[in-house]
Amino acid sequence: ALSPTGCPVSARAAAFDPFAPSYQQDPAATLRWAREEEPVFYSPELGYWVVTRYEDVKAVFRDNLLFSPSIALEKITPASPEVMAILQGYGFAMNRTMVNEDEPEHMARRRLLTDAFLPERLMRYEPAIRQLARQYMDRFIDKGRADLVAEMFYEIPLTIALHFLGVPDEGAEQLRQFAVAHTLNTWGRPTPEEQQAIAHNVGRFWQTAQNILDGMMAQPDGEGWMYESIRQHHLHPEVVTLSYLRSMMMAILAAAHETTSNATANAFMTLLTQRESWEAICAQPALIPNAVEECLRVAGSIVAWRRRATRETQLGGVTIPQDGKLLLVQASANFDPTHFEDPDRVDLYRENAVEHLTFGYGAHQCMGKNIGRMQMRVFLEEFVRRLPHLRLVQPQTFDFLSNTSFRGPSALWVEWEPQHNPERQAG
Ligand code: HEM
Repeated sequence: ALSPTGCPVSARAAAFDPFAPSYQQDPAATLRWAREEEPVFYSPELGYWVVTRYEDVKAVFRDNLLFSPSIALEKITPASPEVMAILQGYGFAMNRTMVNEDEPEHMARRRLLTDAFLPERLMRYEPAIRQLARQYMDRFIDKGRADLVAEMFYEIPLTIALHFLGVPDEGAEQLRQFAVAHTLNTWGRPTPEEQQAIAHNVGRFWQTAQNILDGMMAQPDGEGWMYESIRQHHLHPEVVTLSYLRSMMMAILAAAHETTSNATANAFMTLLTQRESWEAICAQPALIPNAVEECLRVAGSIVAWRRRATRETQLGGVTIPQDGKLLLVQASANFDPTHFEDPDRVDLYRENAVEHLTFGYGAHQCMGKNIGRMQMRVFLEEFVRRLPHLRLVQPQTFDFLSNTSFRGPSALWVEWEPQHNPERQAG
C-alpha cells in the first residue's frame, strides 16, 4: 500500500487497527513501535496520519490554524446513504460546536462562554460532589462488593454535568444509551447493520437535546452554562449562533460527563492495579491531586483526537498533504520517554505529570478540565477515607467500547470487608 503522498506504508502501519480490542486495552503499548521507529505514519485502514510522539502531538494542538479542528466530530466511519436518510429523518443537524470550530469564530465564542468555568465558580460544586459521593457510597458500603461504574461513577458526573449545564435531569436514564450511540457513531467502526440502529439512537438523542434546548429557550432566565449560552446568543447572535446552541446541546450532554465517568473509572482501575500507589494515597491523601494527574496521563479517558492540515506541511519527518487528516494519539504521547521519564511507571511524585495531553493543548484545551479533576479528587478522597482496604475483584477482564477516542471500562468490580471500614470502627 502507498500513502497519499506516494510513500510505501510499512507492514505495521498497515496493520494498525484502533478498533481492535488491543488498542482499547492498552493504546500506548500498541503504538510503542511507532513512537520508537515511525512516529508519524499513514494508516490505510483509517485514511488518517497517526501521530504518536509527545512533541509532534503538542505541536499540532498548538497550531490550530495550520491544523484545523473542523473534523473533530466527523463520523470516522463514513455514513452510508441509508444512515444519512435515517439521521435526516430526525432532523439531525450536528454542525460546529466549540471543539470543532475554526478561528476567528472559535475564540470569539469561547471568550463569551468562559465565565462559568472560572475556578471560583466551580468551587461551588465541590460540596455537592462530596455529598453525592457519600450518599452513593452509603448505598453499597455494607455490601462488600460493587460495580463502581454502574453504582456511582456513571451517575454522579452525569448529575453534576446536568446541574452545571442547567438541564433538568428527568430522562437522564436514556442518556447513557444515547452517549454510547454518539461515541460509536462518531469514533467507532460499526457494521452497516449496527450503524442503522446507532443512527436511530443518535437521531433520538438529537431530538431529545433539541426539546431540552427549546424548553430552556422558552424560559431563558435559569442558572447553568447552557442558560448563560442562550443569553449570550441573544446578545451576540452572530457569535453564539443558534446552530451552535443546537449542536452544542447534544455534544455537551455526552462530553460533560462520559469523559469524567471514564476518567474516574480509569483512575481507580489504575491505582487498584498498582496497589502500592493506592496504599500511598491512603497513607498520604495529600498525594491525591498528583495521583489524579498521573492517572490522567497513564489512563486518560480521551485517548486520541483529530485535526486536518489546512496546507501541505512537514511533521515528524513526514510530508502531510493539504487536507490530510491526523489522528493525534494522546495516550501514546503521554508515554513518550523523551518527555516522561520511565513513562510506564505510575509515579505519584512525577513532577511533570500535569503536562499530559489528555485535555488537549492550546486554544481548544478542554474548558471543563477542572470540573473533571475536582470530581476525580473528591471521589478518591472519599474512598481513601472510608474504604482504604478496597481491592479489585480478581480475576477481572475489562471491556471497552470499540472506538478511537473515548476509553473507560464498562464495569469495575471491587470488594472489601465491611467490618473493616474505618468509620464503622470509629462509630
Ligand atoms: C474540549 C477532554 C471533561 C467541556 C476537550 C478536548 C479534550 C477534552 C481532549 C479537545 C481539546 C483540544 O482540541 O485541544 C476531556 C476530558 C475530560 C473532559 C479527558 C474529563 C476528564 C469536560 C467537562 C466539560 C468539558 C466536564 C464540561 C462541563 C469541554 C469543552 C471543550 C472541551 C466545552 C471545547 C473547548 C474548545 O474547543 O475551545 N475536552 N474533557 N470537558 N471540553 Fe473536555
